[in-house]
Amino acid sequence: MCPMIFREMRETDVPQVAAIEQVTFSRPWKQEDFLDSLKLDSTLNVVAVSEEDDQVLGYCLCYQSFEEGNIVNVAVSEEARRKGIARKMLQYSMEQGQKRGMETFFLEVRISNEPAIRLYEGLGFERAGRRKNFYSAPVEDAWIMICG
Ligand code: COA
Repeated sequence: MCPMIFREMRETDVPQVAAIEQVTFSRPWKQEDFLDSLKLDSTLNVVAVSEEDDQVLGYCLCYQSFEEGNIVNVAVSEEARRKGIARKMLQYSMEQGQKRGMETFFLEVRISNEPAIRLYEGLGFERAGRRKNFYSAPVEDAWIMICG
């Protein structure tokens, strides 16, 4: 795999981030949603980029509320999956979050999303509850997963 780095998302990354989002999710965030997120002090917006050409390979957004980090968006571009990018990107994001005072992390995940559930379990997240009909398009329950 080509060398990559993790860093804070910049405005110039947003078109690439939104393009990955568009082909990944049924209710994708728009470019403006990501730009709004960049303006909030309480949000950690991380991208994984190729060191060679700064191409965005994946992204992770985490919202802070006091000592809690809520991981709200994680994706890796389809061509770059199964290379350990999401695992390393989440580890990096959680380390950065801890430096900002986050002690526990939680997230919601579709109960059918086995790849993501395995990813989170591998990082130490555990199922802590279930939210009925949390998702639309298609309607589905979410596992609430917590780490820390
Ligand atoms: N099937 C089963 N397990 C999988 C998997 C798959 N397709 N993809 C990842 N995993 C699990 C494995 O345990 C893997 O460890 P291993 O490779 O040692 O077996 C671990 O996750 C880490 O995998 P990694 O290569 O870091 O994941 P990735 O970079 O491919 O990204 C997702 C994983 C879930 C972020 C990616 O598939 C994706 O973007 N999916 C669509 C968006 C999404 O579902 N986001 C999460 C919303 S809550």
